[in-house]
Parts: sequence; structure tokens; C-alpha cells
Amino acid sequence: MSASTSHLIAPHGGELIDLLAAPEKAAELKAHSREWPSWDLTARQICDLELLMSGGFSPLRGFMTKADYEGVCHNMRLASGILWPMPITLDVTEEFAKKLTPGSSKVALRDAEGVMLAVLHVEEVWQADRAAEAKAVFNSTSKAHPGADYTMNKSNPWYVGGRIEGLQSPSHYDFRTLRFTPAELRAEFVRLGWRRVVAFQTRNPMHRAHVELTFRAAKQVEANLLIHPVVGMTKPGDVDYYTRVRCYQLLSSKYPQGTQKLSLLPLAMRMGGPREAIWHALIRKNHGCTHLIVGRDHAGPGKDTAGDGKPFYGPYEAQETFKKHEADIGVTMVPFSMMVYLEKEDRYVPDDEVKKGDKVLNISGTELRDRLNEGRDIPAWFTYPEVVQELRRSFPPRAKQGVTIFFTGLSGSGKSTIANVLMTKFLEVGGRPVTLLDGDLVRKHLSSELGFSKEHRDINIRRIGYVASEITKNGGIAICAPIAPYDATRKHVRQMIEPYGGFILVHIATTVEVCEQRDRKGLYAKARAGILKEFTGISDPYEDPADADVTINTGELSAEEAAQEIILHLEREGFIGVNGRG
Ligand code: ADX
Repeated sequence: MSASTSHLIAPHGGELIDLLAAPEKAAELKAHSREWPSWDLTARQICDLELLMSGGFSPLRGFMTKADYEGVCHNMRLASGILWPMPITLDVTEEFAKKLTPGSSKVALRDAEGVMLAVLHVEEVWQADRAAEAKAVFNSTSKAHPGADYTMNKSNPWYVGGRIEGLQSPSHYDFRTLRFTPAELRAEFVRLGWRRVVAFQTRNPMHRAHVELTFRAAKQVEANLLIHPVVGMTKPGDVDYYTRVRCYQLLSSKYPQGTQKLSLLPLAMRMGGPREAIWHALIRKNHGCTHLIVGRDHAGPGKDTAGDGKPFYGPYEAQETFKKHEADIGVTMVPFSMMVYLEKEDRYVPDDEVKKGDKVLNISGTELRDRLNEGRDIPAWFTYPEVVQELRRSFPPRAKQGVTIFFTGLSGSGKSTIANVLMTKFLEVGGRPVTLLDGDLVRKHLSSELGFSKEHRDINIRRIGYVASEITKNGGIAICAPIAPYDATRKHVRQMIEPYGGFILVHIATTVEVCEQRDRKGLYAKARAGILKEFTGISDPYEDPADADVTINTGELSAEEAAQEIILHLEREGFIGVNGRG
């Protein structure tokens, strides 16, 4: 270690690992890679590889072999005895695993575009007991635990362990000035004269509570502050990191000048609670930090909604586990209890300092989302106006979000007529672009090669769902009017769209008798005569939806009245409002 960096905390295991090969060696490896099998890395594997190569995971030099893996799972220690709480494994398919010879094979690890990032020298290949791993590492095998679910159900069943030689780090084109490798951050700390650095881990937007908390922590241990948010993978449903980083950037003025720094961490979180807290500390140690803030439910996955409904970990279990291993970790924990807003004093305090009867206020993440959705006030005691403004840009009120109106019903039930009336109503109101994806139009422009088997119908509906999800994501209105006879497929489409905006399922519940009697296109007659095969309602199934948001009986309502019913529903749900307010 050079003299200039010697006063910084030593990396975990004593040496900052750097797996990137020199340019000549990298070129040589690349040339050889033609002879080796390639593995296209998953999103999580890319995150892990990046931190392996940069030394964020020092002392690891590659994906774990079995001895390290077993030691980590069961004793939180590598085979060398060094503390390490999280398995870092390369999971592959059985088919791929069978191609490899331990001890001699090399694998070209590639990103999604096929760019070769590293070579893996295959030392061991084995089939993991992933349920046992989930139980050992996360103390859970529940689907509701993101880490356990990934381990058991999403990762591949075979693991490949071995040393890594890096060719290049994964490319990032966003926030380049905020991305520091461990070596870069260490150099920066030296330059700034920072010896004691307390890191703040986060996967959420920061509000007043967090600024107060981090500022208090820094003062308490007389350290500089590193805001070190995770921008790799966090808990599904979290605020996207682009929005979060813009918010973090707005907060630098809240700290005394020259005492705070923001750097992005490309980590794939496991939501592993206590073990994850230790892992976070080791990663921060490698980045040159001496302290880590550990609050309530650190890296907690929430409650076991697929099991007993209880939280996976105790609120301060991460702190307790950390304390036990603090000497081995080498990073000092700065524990915090929940910071809450004490109304009468207009300030934030740890909840264990609140006296009985004192009124405290808090807004949960869900409550904040609801307020944004409905365009309601977000109080100044909770967060800063500039943060609210930024959040409102990313999460406009429902009246400014995109929405999909998805009709389902038999042929001739009146879907197209109502959809057309609805479209003109939207055009009259204005403000959002409108696209009509009518059943016949889609079959002409998007799905002309498809027939009416279950498989083809499903492909057709998924295509419509995909287009509608893009329209919704971009703030438009998509009106879809296919038959969509299968419940599971409709539900799939709902899931595709709801993360981006509204999804309103409208069932046009005209009975088959009425449709046949009207027979506007003469199709029912053809179906009865056997000329048209696989005809919904006659010779093909239609599954009535139990999850329709609006049900229309065309026997009772005209098309205009039906469209008006849908408009009223949208209004009630906040998707239509006055001047964009819900
Ligand atoms: S985490 O999954 O990264 O832990 P989050 O970003 O919410 O989630 O929290 C980051 C850290 O801040 C954790 O240590 C957490 O316990 C702590 N924290 C979050 N909110 C508060 C609060 N109101 N009071 C005290 N600590 C908090």
C-alpha cells in the first residue's frame, strides 16, 4: 500500500483486489475466447461481477467454490476463516454445466449485448441445494422473501466456481461522475483528507428523517459522510434509481460544505437483513469507510406475506448480529433507532427518546406513493420542496399517468362500438394521446399470421398488452378491444401494465344468445354451420372475468351510456381530474 493511502482503513482481508487484467493480457484473453463456451450473465451476475472485479467484494477473487460457499452458508466464513456472510455464486443451467471440465475449462462471461467482460477459470461445478442455501442464509424459504425466492426459484440450479480475470467493467452511461470504484473512492478520500468516513446505505429516496439521521451519525462519531445508495438491484417495487439519485443530488446543500459525498454502488441487494448488514459493512470497508449506519430493519424484506405474515427479521436483529461480529468486520456500526418527527419541537428524534404522550408523525412509503398518486400535499416536516418536485416529476398524479382500458367480451358484444365512443370522449377532453388497439385492427397490423388456437390467441393478447404497456408507460391512453377469452392471459397483461399506470378491465357482458341474435357480421351463422372453426362462445371457450373493474350489460345501456360509465369509473379512480389533480 502506498504511503499516501496508508492511513485509510485496510480492505477486508488486507488487500484491495483488482481483477482487471492489463490491456495486453485482456486482448490475449479475448483472442482465445473463441475456443471457450460463453455464458450470458444475468442482471444480478453482472452486478456481482462488477464488484468482484473492482475489489468491492475483497477478498473474493472469483465466484465461490464449494468450500467457500458451504462455509459462508453455514458459518458465515470463507474456507480461509475470513468472515463473509453472502454466497457469491455463478449459477448456470444444467445443459451449460455439463459442457464444463473443472480444472481446465474457461468460460467467457458476457453482458446482455455479448460484450466479453471477464474469463472464469472453472475450478468446480456442482448442483446446489438451493432450498438449504436459502434457509441457511436468509432463514427463510418463502416466496415473499426476495433473496430466498431468487435463490430457490429464479437462479439456475448449477453453480460454477473459480477465479476471474477481468477484461472490462460493465459499461454505465448514466451518472458517470458519481460512480467510484473502491480504489477511486479511496483516492478521493485521501485527496479530501478524509480519514474517518461513515457510510449511509440506502435503496430509498432520502427525506428529512434521513438527512437528520446521517448528519447526527456523522457528528456523533466525528466522521465525514458518504451517501452510498444502491443502484444495482434493490427490492422489487422500489423507486427507480434515476429518480432517487436526482433526489440525493438535491440534498448535498443540506450538509456542511466539504463533509459529505455521494457515490453510487452497483450492488445487487438480497434483502438479507442481518447478514446483509454485515455484507454492506464489508463492501463499505473496501471502499475506504470506517463506519456504517445501521438503522431499524436494515435491508429488511418486510413481512412474510406468503407465510405467517410476520416480519422476516426482528427490527433490530441486524444491529444485534452486527454487534456480535463487529471485531471481525472491522467497521464500526453506528446504530440508530427509528427517527421520528416530534411535532411540538419541530425536529426529528430517535423513537426511544420520545416521551409518553408526545405526538410523533410519520409518513410510510406506501402513504407517500398514495399522496403522489392522488396529487395530495406532502408536508414540509416530512421532506424538502425540491425533493417533492423531483418525485412529482417521476410519479405524476393519476390524472397525468398513462392508462389502459382493456375491453373483453364475445364477438359482436359491442366492444368496438363502445371503444370508439370512448376514444372520441378522450379526444374531446384532450391532454393525453390516445391509441385504439381494436381486435380486428390488431389482427391486421400486428398479428396477421396468427390463428385462433389458444396458443395464438395468447400470443395476440400478449402483443396487445406489450404495446399498451409502452403507451401507458409514456403517459398515453391505450384502448384495447380484443375478445381476450382467457383469464390467465388477461391477468398477465394487467401485471405488465399496472407498474406503469392504470389498467381498467371492462367486461362487455353481452350474452352469447344476444350476440348470436344480433349477429352483425354474420359470423355466428358461419360458426353454427361449421364454416368458422374455434369460434368463441360457440366452439371455443370464453372465461368470464371475476376481476373486471367495470361490467357493462349492453342490453341495458347504449354505447354512449356505456362509455360514460367507464369515464365515471376513471374519474372515481383519479385517472381523470381537473387540471391534472386527482
Ligand atoms: S435498506 O434496505 O437499504 O436498509 P433504506 O434505504 O430504507 O433500506 O434504509 C437505509 C438505512 O437507513 C437502514 O439502515 C435503515 O435502517 C435506516 N433508516 C431508514 N429510515 C430510517 C429512520 N426513519 N430512522 C432511522 N433509520 C432509518
